[in-house]
Amino acid sequence: MTILDNDAIKKIRNAGIAGKKALELALTLIEPGTTLLETATKTESLIREMGMVPSFPLNLSINSEAAHYTPGINDKKTFTRGDIVKVDIGASDDGYCSDNAATVEVGESGKHSNLIDASREALKAALKVVRPNIAVSRIGAKIEEVIASFGFKPIRNLGGHGIERNDLHSTVFIPNYDDMNMTTIRPGSLIAIEPFASTGIGMIHNGQPGNIYMLDGPNIDKNGMFYREFNTLPFAARWLEGKVEKPDKVLRESLGRKQILSFPVFREHSGALISQAEHTVLVLSDEVIVTTA
Ligand code: CO
Repeated sequence: MTILDNDAIKKIRNAGIAGKKALELALTLIEPGTTLLETATKTESLIREMGMVPSFPLNLSINSEAAHYTPGINDKKTFTRGDIVKVDIGASDDGYCSDNAATVEVGESGKHSNLIDASREALKAALKVVRPNIAVSRIGAKIEEVIASFGFKPIRNLGGHGIERNDLHSTVFIPNYDDMNMTTIRPGSLIAIEPFASTGIGMIHNGQPGNIYMLDGPNIDKNGMFYREFNTLPFAARWLEGKVEKPDKVLRESLGRKQILSFPVFREHSGALISQAEHTVLVLSDEVIVTTA
């Protein structure tokens, strides 16, 4: 973990505020018939208007999709009444990132409020137990306990993560169940806690590509366009519009050369519904700050 001086902490908090505002905006935009593309563009613009950049493209993952769908270029997909939408967004202030998520049912009939509450309440409970030097499995155990109390299963192969500068998913993994892992959260860590609740078996697999990319590999070209524009944070195909002539061609060729990777959409194994809730948490030796609260 990079040493966190006051300047870094200030940027981490700024990114938290922008991420929270963006998530709030996205939740108000999601209605039957609205396009995912319009929702993403408006939400990401708010972060840019605040003088920051999105730490990753707005994820709008529907029903059995757990994560990693962002609208593609000219995407025509719209929200349908009854869709369970996981909305996941964050901001980056000079590489210091936030990551937060919530779930909404399009049209809000309340039919799935239990599923939505399960991940939200699990997150609340996890935030109450997180403190410096806690084992990650203790956070996972709490998440599992709450989700099970609603009659659902946590997703076992998806969880929270450490966040470092320009690195949204660093090595620390925070499980959504008691995986017996005694790795501890060190003071000075920035982490994301993200319970996922499922009406199915609680496992996800990789689905189709979700229009999200990231620089990859041991030899990142630091003089190249991707690094200059996005550093090592995830980006959307959409964000290349106006920057390169033929975004699809540039992406295809860069993927072929293994300069970038493409994230697959995560799907529930059994096709079941999933809800998610997420906050970014700064764990200091004497204080725990939820930066996206
Ligand atoms: Co996250």
